[in-house]
This record gives sequence, structure tokens and C-alpha cells, in this order.
Amino acid sequence: MRTSAISERTYQNLCNLIFRYSRISLGTGREGLLASRLGTRLGKLGLETWESYLEILNEGKNMEEIDILIDLVSTNHTQFFREPSHFQRLNDGLLAQVLQDCPQARQELRCWSAATSSGEEAYTLAIILSEFISKHSSLANWIIEASDISRKALQRAEAGIYPIKALHLPRPELLARYFQRGSGPFEGQCKVKSQIRDKIRLKRINLFQDFYPIEQPLHLVFCRNVLIYFQPESQGQLVARLFGMLAPGGLLFIGHSDSLVHLQHGFLPLGGGIYRRSD
Ligand SMILES: C[S@@+](CC[C@H](N)C(=O)[O-])C[C@H]1O[C@@H](n2cnc3c(N)ncnc32)[C@H](O)[C@@H]1O
Repeated sequence: MRTSAISERTYQNLCNLIFRYSRISLGTGREGLLASRLGTRLGKLGLETWESYLEILNEGKNMEEIDILIDLVSTNHTQFFREPSHFQRLNDGLLAQVLQDCPQARQELRCWSAATSSGEEAYTLAIILSEFISKHSSLANWIIEASDISRKALQRAEAGIYPIKALHLPRPELLARYFQRGSGPFEGQCKVKSQIRDKIRLKRINLFQDFYPIEQPLHLVFCRNVLIYFQPESQGQLVARLFGMLAPGGLLFIGHSDSLVHLQHGFLPLGGGIYRRSD
């Protein structure tokens, strides 16, 4: 089935809905991107025009379809040990510093992977913390809250099954320690072991919802490669909220493509996308 071209007005209406429910800002002239992300969905619904898709969305009252829309427009690219300098620097002293600065963290280090996509970021952090706790008595326990707006991405995180070649582990022995190799139809894949899976609390959270069901204060917040999809005003609001959720001495990690340069914030920059709440 061929779908009609998106008119400027319909594109704007769709962008407004996407913004209202996720704050993702597509900007102008991205009709092609929208069409490539949503074309299959329109086909599945048997729709030939974008206007009829807007009717189905019913000005945002059809929440089920809005969720699917947000799923389709969100970019979920991620990987294990992405931007490895963050994990390296945690190992090389930042984690020890946080434990020194935040007495509560020594009992239970609380972390949040705030746009975790399919879970690779949260599981990477879990491996780092698990390795750390096995060698250092300064940390008694840790938990990771991991959330995303995309239901589909969270389902993949929940399953915790990944291709072995996508793990990018810094040391080969980590494979047997933290993953179960699949066999038969799961050959070439592996599943995260329950020892780390059980410490991760997966939740569906829109970063712009009024209340976050997250235990506070936090000591490490990963909010990487998501700020880039928001306008500066939304970025500022989000970063201020994250600041308030961190304990003094806690750290915020942003992606290498994100930036706080144009925002007013209270963090001390440590370089490389790492910021400390230092009051
Ligand atoms: C590119 S991925 C980044 C994944 C991971 N943090 C990383 O750096 O590899 C961006 C994620 O942000 C999520 N996202 C976009 N808007 C969001 C919002 N308003 N609330 C929560 N998550 C959102 C998307 O669903 C997507 O999974």
C-alpha cells in the first residue's frame, strides 16, 4: 500500500503530539525521517494518508497509539561499554571518591540509568559495580534504577538477551561471570545472569513526567545521548531535576553528543561529560 506524502501542516501536528508526550523535538524538514519510522505502522493499520493516522491519534487521546508513535520515533541506539571512558574513570578513582564524599553511598550506592534504552548501559554499570564490590570493602550494596519511555526497548532490557558479539567486554572472563551462553536456537546469544539482573529495577519513565518513582538521593545518574533530542528549555528543566535528585558529591554522566554548555546549572564539570554535584 502506498502512503501519501506528509503535508507541512500534518507534519507539524505530528511533531506537536510527539513533543507533547516525550519532549522529543524533531525540528523542521524531517518529514523523510518520520515517514521512514512510521511508514510500516501506517501500512499495518491499513492507512493510506497521514491525515487518517492523525485521526487515529485523536489529538493525543488514543494513548495506546501515542505510545506506539513514541516508540517508533525514539532512537534507541545503544551498546555495552558505550563511551568506555565513563566506566574507566569510575574504576580509576571516581567511584572511590563518591564513596568518600557520600557516606550513605557506602551502605547502598544508588544509581539511575535514566534513558537506558534496551538495558546495555544499566548492565554495563552493573558489571562495573559488581567487579568493584568484589575487591573493595568500602561498598556494601548497590542498586540501579533503569528506565526509558520506550516500551519496546524496555522489553528487550527485561529479557536481557543479547548477541555475544555485541558485548564489547574489556576482559574476556567477564562473559562467563555475568552471562549465560545460549545454545540451540540461542547459539551466539547470551543472557544476563540473575546476580546482576536482580539488582536492576526496570521502569517505564518519561523524563518529563511530574513524579519519578525513584528512590533518592542518588549517587550516580547516567543520562546519556538523550539530551540531544530535546530543546534547550527542556534540557535545562531536566538537568535541574537531576541535580536535585543527586546527593552532594554524586555524579551525572551525559553522552559525548550531549552538552550542558548553554545551560545554567550547579554542577562542577569534571570533563568528558562527567559532572559532580559539589555543594
Ligand atoms: C540513543 S538512546 C541512549 C541510550 C543510552 N543512554 C546510551 O547512551 O547508550 C536514547 C533513549 O532515550 C529515550 N527517550 C527519549 N525521550 C525520552 C523521554 N522523554 N523520557 C525517557 N526516555 C526518553 C529513547 O526511548 C531512547 O531509548
